[in-house]
Amino acid sequence: MAQKQSRWSDLHKTLFEKNSLILTVGILITVSIGGIVEIAPLFYLDSTIEEVDGMRPYTPLEQAGRDIYIREGCYNCHSQMVRPLRDEVERYGHYSLAAESMYDHPFQWGSKRTGPDLARVGGKYSDEWHRDHLIDPQSVVPESIMPDYPFLATAELDYANIAANLRALRIVGVPYTEEMIEAAVSDVTTQLDPYAMDYDAFQARYPGAVMRDFDGDPSRVTEMDALVAYLQVLGTMVDFSTYEAQADENLR
Ligand code: HEC
Repeated sequence: MAQKQSRWSDLHKTLFEKNSLILTVGILITVSIGGIVEIAPLFYLDSTIEEVDGMRPYTPLEQAGRDIYIREGCYNCHSQMVRPLRDEVERYGHYSLAAESMYDHPFQWGSKRTGPDLARVGGKYSDEWHRDHLIDPQSVVPESIMPDYPFLATAELDYANIAANLRALRIVGVPYTEEMIEAAVSDVTTQLDPYAMDYDAFQARYPGAVMRDFDGDPSRVTEMDALVAYLQVLGTMVDFSTYEAQADENLR
């Protein structure tokens, strides 16, 4: 045994340590084996994202809210991914599934948490709470250090380009249909009206989408409407009372 070891270390010294080129080739071979083992299986899977019931593309209003979320840099302080760790799951709810962000371009997972994770914030608070919080965070959370965004309540939502926006998302794989794109502009106001004439058609396009006025002022379409609609849908599409994880028993 001792002899074997010394023979190997002799070889190591004479061959690899004294000859940098052979050492480099040796490193390359070792690293590529590791790389192939990690990457090759991905080419043999039909999909790396497990399909989950309930996922649908964002409505035009939610999508517009998402663009405001990105424009205002909310992601600088908020992540949108519940990690599969016990403390996270107890605080935020079921850990995030890959499928839950499959229509997010770009995704908002993040790793910076000055504020809490928002992946499951939908339905946690009332619309009124979100409005008060965005206009003046300290009015509802006195110790909050979140900046205020009062202008969202008065700024008219600019959604002239929303159809083009959905069309662009379709190119990167979000399954918006021609019908959804054609109805995109009117769907913004349809979603804000719980008595909309187009109610059934809208629900057929976006099953389960919440239809109501989000900013407390039904006479106007504001950026607040869009952002709150977006916050209220986060993490609510998949019904976790019926969801069965396929291959992650150890995480349950
Ligand atoms: C400078 C960092 C910072 C930025 C930027 C920021 N937030 Fe926050 N946010 C916080 C902090 C800290 C809290 C926790 C205290 C509180 O609730 O106000 C918070 C809390 C929240 C909550 C409540 C979460 C919960 O589960 O209680 C929501 C919703 C939220 N932020 C949305 C937003 C949105 C939308 C934006 C962008 C318009 C934004 N935040 C920008 C720091 C930030």
